[in-house]
This record gives sequence, structure tokens and C-alpha cells, in this order.
Amino acid sequence: MSFFSDISAIQNIVYIFSSILFISGIKMLGKEDTAVRGNFLSASAMFIAVAVTIINVVNPVIVLIGVSIGAVIGSLIALRVKMTSIPEMVALFNGFGGLATFFIAWSEFNAIPDNVFQFIVIMLTTYIGGVTFSGSIIAYGKLSEKLKVKKDSFVTKIFTTFFYASILFLVYSIGFTEIIELPINFYTVLLILTLLGGIGFVIPIGGGDMPVVISLLNSFSGIAAAFAGLLLLNNVLIVAGSLVGASGLILTIIMAKAMNRSIGNILFVGYASSSSSSGSQETGEVKPINVADAYLILENASSVLVIPGYGMAVAQAQHVVRELGELLEENGTEVKYGIHPVAGRMPGHMNVLLAEANVPYDVLVEPDDVNPSMDTVDVAIVIGANDVVNPSATEEPGSPIYGMPIIEVHNARTVFVLKRSMSAGFAGVQNPLFFKQNTRMLFGDAKESIGGLVSEFKE
Ligand code: TAP
Repeated sequence: MSFFSDISAIQNIVYIFSSILFISGIKMLGKEDTAVRGNFLSASAMFIAVAVTIINVVNPVIVLIGVSIGAVIGSLIALRVKMTSIPEMVALFNGFGGLATFFIAWSEFNAIPDNVFQFIVIMLTTYIGGVTFSGSIIAYGKLSEKLKVKKDSFVTKIFTTFFYASILFLVYSIGFTEIIELPINFYTVLLILTLLGGIGFVIPIGGGDMPVVISLLNSFSGIAAAFAGLLLLNNVLIVAGSLVGASGLILTIIMAKAMNRSIGNILFVGYASSSSSSGSQETGEVKPINVADAYLILENASSVLVIPGYGMAVAQAQHVVRELGELLEENGTEVKYGIHPVAGRMPGHMNVLLAEANVPYDVLVEPDDVNPSMDTVDVAIVIGANDVVNPSATEEPGSPIYGMPIIEVHNARTVFVLKRSMSAGFAGVQNPLFFKQNTRMLFGDAKESIGGLVSEFKE
């Protein structure tokens, strides 16, 4: 056996080992107490796979320089990014994954494909990689609110036309041309249309739907990587790409379900956007409450449901929230935490924050578990949540968020809403909860308000 076939046998064994570690790592992500180790395991598996791949590349120095630059930039971004901006970072990382596969497909095209299968895979990898790249950049812009384009604007229509044109051109390239002998110019048109089409794919989608789109783009980046693995005959790329593709798709379906929408509806119809929707203007009396009075009610409550939202993340109030929960329990109150799947700004956002503050996993409940018995809850404490407790979603058919499942805190005996002002949440719609008979508004930064309650309990 020659040196190179020896090496490739060793590489394949290491790839199988890495794949097992990937899968074990992903499995460990399913539970809070093993998630950090799972993440580390999968990252180590990727490191091992990359290291063993470099062994027999023609110019390892160039690859090492590229990997080092990428590692430094990636680490700096990950260290500096705020928890609330993780979805934007994920969007960018997906985009760069797509760009890498786009370049791989392009270079394989230039190397002249030698059979029909290879040609088709090159076309598909070019397309999915390119759409993932430009679509992710637009998703990043929308999520960070740096890019504000209206759904029915002229610009949106132009790019949407490019999107449909790019699909037609892809089908034409694959099916109706002289297979394999596609002229270079023709391929260049596909490259350009693909990038414009990616913009057109994401640009009409509303800001509130961006998390679902980012998850879908994540899945696309995995599929493109798996195709690139087929082109390069690299097994670990096929396995890792398929894992990302499949898990991204599952997450997309779960998130769409949590918002009571179909994926087709999100991609091709759209609704709530952070800039365009308003909802009905609720009027009525708002009943503010101060910390001292809120304490008196809490002291006598036998059951409390805490509903955290984006504002808890902004205020970084998770540690005082856990402290308040413990004090309530010491006082004989049953405390549970109602977690909405899209509370915050990324999947699992609230779970991560509460896990960081050591809130036990078994006191976290989902909307379906808690809604049927909401009328037995003495006090629901809404901490910086807004859209996920907005009764318009169930009561007001004209509302932009109508149909989204919510945590129905308005059915609890008393509701405390902790926020700084009367301003709307992410979907930009008014919340009738604030005007309900049983609601008391505890205005102020969530960390300060909860801190005040903690001090009252300690006195
Ligand atoms: P939101 O509806 O966005 O409401 C958050 C509320 O927190 C705001 O009304 C704000 O009111 C309050 N707030 C902000 N800073 C605060 C602070 N320091 N102290 C106290 N309150 C503070 O949040 P939600 O209920 O968690 O709903 C999430 C929304 O984001 C949904 O519409 C969802 O579709 C969308 N979204 C979700 C994700 C994922 S995957 N989770 C990703 C992107 C978007 P004040 O300004 O008056 O304080």
C-alpha cells in the first residue's frame, strides 16, 4: 500500500471516530447539565477532523494560515458578542459556511466535471451555497435592524423576481443544456443570479420570522456542505453537513410550529415585522404597582408562575430571578417558570439564561402544560416578556400575531408585568394584557424591580 492510500485509510477511520463524537455531542446538547460538554465534544471532533484532513493536502501552510486567521476572527467575535446578539452571529456564520461551499463548487466547475452526477452536484452546491450566503447576510441585516426594507417596496419586488429567475435558471442549467459542456459565461450568470436570488429569498420575510429563516439557512448551509463533501469525496464533510442539514430542518419545523405557522406561510406570505405592524390601539386604565405592594401580594401567594422574556435577558436579571424564586419557596410558595419557545431572541434563550443561574430544569414548564391550569395560579410575574403573553394572539383575529400560541397569563388571578414603559415588544403590537382588570404594571428595569422584591423578602 502506498503512503497516500495508507493515509487515506487512517483519515477515514479518524473521520468515523469524529462522526461518533459529533453525534454524541449533539445528543448531549439536549440537556442543560450536559450541553456545555456536548458543545466541547463536537468542537473537538471538528478540530480532529480538520487536523487529519490537512495531513496530505498539497500546500498545508496555506491551509494552516487560513484556518488560523478564521479561528482568531471567529473566537474574537464569539467572545465579544452579547447573548442577545447570538442569532445575528449565527446568521453570519451560516452565511460564511454557504460561501465556502459556493467557492468549492465554483472551483470544481473550473476543474471540468467528468460525469453528469458531478455536474448536477456542482450546480446544486453552487446554488444552495450562494443562496445561503447572500440570504444570511440579509437575515443578519434584518435581525440587527440595520436593514429595513418594506415587504411591498419596489426593491423587494425586484429581488424577489431575481429569486424566481434564479430557480428557473438553475433548472434550465441542469435540465435543458448540453450537460457538462455548460459554457463558462452561462455558469457566471448562474453565480450572479444565485447571489441576487438569495437576497430575494430573504428580503420579503418579516423581522419576527427571521429566527425561523435563520434556522432554515443553517439547514441549507449543512446541505451545501454535504454536497461539497460529495464533490471532494470527503466523508466527514458529508456526515457533518447532513447532521447540520437535518437538525436545522427539525429546528425550523419546531419553531414554525411554536408560532403556529407553516414554513410555506412564513417564506411566501409573511406577517409580523418589527417595523411594519401596529395592531389595534388599546385604551383603558393602566394600574401601576410599587415594589412594596407587590411584595405584600407575593408574600401571601401559594403559587407563582414566572414568565421570562427578552427584557430579562437585557436586564441580565436571571440571577436575582432565581434568588426571588428561592425566597418564595422558602415562604411556602410553589414556583414554576413558564417558558415560551420563542421568548427572547434565539431558540432556548430563556432556558440558557435560567440554566446559567442554576434554576432547576424540572420547574420549567411549557405553555401547553401550564395554560389549562392558569386560573389556579395566584400570581403570574411577567419579566420583560411582551409578545409571548399578548392575548391578541388568541382573541383578536385581525392582529398581526393572531394564531401564535402564547402563555395565557391573563387567566391567572393576578398578573405583575415588569417592564420599563408601555412600549411594544418585537412584533411592534400593542398588548391588551397591560389594561386588564387583574394586571398590575411594575415599571422599571427588571433587575432593579426583582432586586427590590428580594430585599423586601430578606428584611
Ligand atoms: P418582546 O415581545 O420583544 O418584549 C420584550 C419586552 O421587554 C419589551 O416590551 C420591553 O419593554 C421589555 N424590556 C426590555 N428591556 C427591559 C429591561 N431592562 N427591564 C425590563 N423590561 C425590559 O419579548 P418576548 O415576549 O420575549 O417575545 C419575543 C419576541 O421576539 C417574539 O415576537 C418573537 O417572535 C421574537 N423573536 C424571537 C426569537 C427567538 S427564536 N426567541 C428571535 C427573534 C425574534 P420596555 O421597553 O417597556 O421595557
